[in-house]
Parts: sequence; C-alpha cells; structure tokens
Amino acid sequence: MCPTLLLYELGTLNSSMSLKLSNVVSTKRLYSQAFPLTLVIPMVSEIREISKTFERISAHSHIRGLGLDEDLKAKDVADGLVGQKKAREAAGIIVRLIKEGKMAGRGILIAGPPGTGKTAIAVAISKELGKDIPFVQVSASEFFSTEMKKTEALIQAMRKAIGVRIRERRIVLEGEVVGLDYNMVPNPYNPTQKVPESATITIATKDEKRTFSVGSRIAMQFISSGIEVGDVIVIDKETGRIGRLGKSNRAKKKYDIEDEEIVDVPNGRVEKEKEFTYVVTLHDLDEANARRSSIFSLFSPPSREIDNEVRQAVDEKVKSLVEEGRAELVPGVLFIDETHLMDIELFAFMNRAMESDMAPIIILASNRGFAKIRGTDIVAPHGIPLDLLDRLLIITTEPYSREEIKTIIEIRAAESGIMLSREALEKLTEIGEKTSLRYAVQLLAPANEYAKLRKSGKVEISDVNRAAEIFADVTQSSEYLKKWEEKLLAH
Ligand SMILES: Nc1ncnc2c1ncn2[C@@H]1O[C@H](COP(=O)(O)OP(=O)(O)OP(=O)(O)O)[C@@H](O)[C@H]1O
Ligand SMILES: [Mg+2]
Repeated sequence: MCPTLLLYELGTLNSSMSLKLSNVVSTKRLYSQAFPLTLVIPMVSEIREISKTFERISAHSHIRGLGLDEDLKAKDVADGLVGQKKAREAAGIIVRLIKEGKMAGRGILIAGPPGTGKTAIAVAISKELGKDIPFVQVSASEFFSTEMKKTEALIQAMRKAIGVRIRERRIVLEGEVVGLDYNMVPNPYNPTQKVPESATITIATKDEKRTFSVGSRIAMQFISSGIEVGDVIVIDKETGRIGRLGKSNRAKKKYDIEDEEIVDVPNGRVEKEKEFTYVVTLHDLDEANARRSSIFSLFSPPSREIDNEVRQAVDEKVKSLVEEGRAELVPGVLFIDETHLMDIELFAFMNRAMESDMAPIIILASNRGFAKIRGTDIVAPHGIPLDLLDRLLIITTEPYSREEIKTIIEIRAAESGIMLSREALEKLTEIGEKTSLRYAVQLLAPANEYAKLRKSGKVEISDVNRAAEIFADVTQSSEYLKKWEEKLLAH
C-alpha cells in the first residue's frame, strides 16, 4: 500500500514531522503540527527553567516581583521584597530595557555581601519578565560536570536563554468530533491484533458539519492520541498533525469527576485559517535538529553535546525566518549565581559569546570582594577578569538594618505557615543581625519542629534557642573546627 495516506477532502497528508504549538487565539493549549521549513521545531511547553533544585526555589518562594511603583520607585515592602531599594530600582530599569529589547548581549553584575538578597533580586527580575521571556538560572558550579565540556555547558545555558517567537498562519480543520468509525483489519505482522485500515471522522462547529475519510496512518494517530467523540480537535491540513484541545462543552459527561479541560465548540467553518504563535528556545531547536542530523541517533545513546555546525544551521534558519517577518528573537536572561566558581576559560568564552547577535542578557552574582580568578593567580575585583567587568553594569546590595531583617523573617515565616511569638521574632532578628540573615531564616523550620513537639502551633523563644543551640552558624562551626585543628597540631 502507498505509504502516504489520504484524507480525501483534504488531499495528501504527510505526518512525518511533529511539533507542538501554543495557540494564542484560544487558550495556551498545545497543538501538534508540522513546520513547513526544514527546521525541526521540537515540542515545547515551558520555556523557563528557573531552577532544577527544589531547595533553591523554596528559599525565595515569597518573592513575587520587584515591588516598584509606576515611577519605578521601590516601595518599602512589596511583592515579598523588603528594603534594598537602590538595587531594586536598578533592577527595575533593567527589566524595562530587557522588555524593550535594548539589553541583548549586555551583562549585569549584582555584587554584595552574603545574604543581602542578590539571588532574591534575580528571582524578582525573572518574575517581572513574565512567562514569555526565557529566564535560566544556573550556579556556576553546574558548568563543571563529567557529562560535557564546561564551555559546552555554558553555551547550552546561553542558548536556553534565547527565545524565538514564531508566527504562522495555517489552514486547519477545527471542531468537535461528532462521529468516528474505524475500519479494522488484522495486523499484517501480527494477525491476532487488529489495526485500523481507515477511518471516517465527522467534525462539527456550531454552524457546519463535515465528514472526512482518512487512511491508516492518521487513523492510528486518532487512536494513539485518544481522540473520541465529544473531543474538540484541530488538524493541520497540510501535514495531518492532530491536536486535542479538550472535551466539548456539548458532549455528554462520562464521569462525575473529570480531569479534562472543557472547551467551547468553535463557531464558523470547519476549515479555517488560524494564526499560531509559539516560543521555543535556540537550545530546543539545536537539540531537535541535532537528533535529526545524526544518522546514528537511532542506535547510539544521544550525545549531550551539540555540534557547532548544527548550531550554525539553526542560527541561519532562524535569521532567515526573522528576515521574512515570520519570527522574532526574544533575548532572555541567563543568571549565573556564584560567579566566582567560573574559571578563566569560561570567562573568556563567555566574553566572546556575548559579542554574537544572538546572545542573551547575562546576570552574574558575586559575594566576593577581591579574589583570585579561578585557574590563574591573578587577583581581580569579584574574581572576574577586568575585560569582562568592563562591560558589566554593576548593582550593589547592602547589609540590612535590624528592622529590615525583622520584616524579612516575618515574611519568610508567613510564607512557610509558621507562627512566631513576638519574643521569638525578636530573638531571630537578633540572631540575623549578629550572624547572618540566612542563618536566622534557616532556623525557622527546626524551631517550628520544636514547637510542634510541644504540641504548640506557635514558635516561642525557647524553640528558637533550642534550634540555635543545635545548628551552628558559620562563625561557630569554623571556630569549632579551628579549635580542633589546634588541638590536633598540639599533639
Ligand atoms: N530584600 C529582601 N526581601 C525579602 N527577602 C529577602 C531579601 N533579601 C534577601 N531575602 C531572603 O533572604 C534569604 C537570603 O538572601 P539571598 O539568598 O538572596 O542572598 P544572596 O545575596 O544571594 O547571598 P549569597 O551571596 O550567599 O548567595 C533568601 O531566602 C532571600 O529570599
Ligand atoms: Mg545567592
């Protein structure tokens, strides 16, 4: 039988390529569809990769934004952020520049003592940027792994931070499935099984009903995507790709509790032109195209490193789409925390990569004053080479006042659902002032456990003291070890 299967009213369909699109017209649903160029566009649902580790997110879960007014002035306490006004206002301007596309290829350094909210401000920037602008957060230590070269890890992170917004007009069939019949025949390879040889599908909108017959490949797609009567679907006319939008609100309810989205039956004609907009990252495109270009990919395990040729080909395709007005670049942010862990080679590589027209905005954070640049004996401000420093805009964070520490602890306690007595809050504030804000914040959870042991819903000063006795802060722990070392050496 001919491998191309027919959907008679539609003409020849070819379902060899696939991607998912989010349709801006209706919801943020994903559609399956094929792209007419040779560029393989992967399935993407989320472009942001704020952090892989739970711990890192949870420490900043109270932050909702930068807490600025329309005039970009920082409010005292807003969006979970307290004080640190100058840095927040600077971050506000940067968010504006990023949104206006005026920051691409530029870099920012957030510098300040430990626990003064550098990571918190970067998280706030990501919240302000919204969902459509990629924001990638990594710790510089993540570049050093056995899986790939460090420069490869860096370039992949940079390309995850660049979005490509693609717009397309496509002819689609859209509506509720009101009839679906399969013509089943024995599987030629396994006659005990039956497979669909063809199917007849009837699709209806509120105003029109049309019936189509389809060949076995598309019929198989109906089965594998679980399409049934009552579903609202969209089929790309050119490629035959099918997307399932949800259950029709006209369909009879099958279960009392359903996990499916209920959608309206569309109006108008079954066959229509629709505009699709979706954002993928350059890294998504690299990966999808690398997979396709490798002849051995079927048999060999996928390599995590991507060829430079693949990247160049992707860049060229994307550029031509941009020139044709069919795509837009969306430069996002790559936030590299704990920058002092980067070494000279990574810095040099990044400096060069920032020159490219497809570079993201780089935000670095450092709590070091003067430090050796890793991999050299050169001491430089923040452990960053001078030529890179030269192109960075610098935001500084300052130590907090007692009142600010107190408010931050209050906010963190509220975020974790922990009740504090007034004395306990005072004690934690004092600890935060004397040692570090982070230590005080970290004591919240163990102190709360001690409160629970007392069968109390409120943390008292005794719980805080008990937790502070058990868990050391950095000064205590290093002093303790120093004492031990001295003792050992004395012997
Ligand atoms: N201005 C602020 N408002 C509210 N919460 C804050 C603020 N500053 C810091 N925090 C919270 O205090 C804790 C420590 O801050 P953060 O981790 O951002 O410090 P940092 O400057 O990145 O420190 P390090 O140099 O050690 O990385 C976090 O839980 C953070 O969310
Ligand atoms: Mg930090």
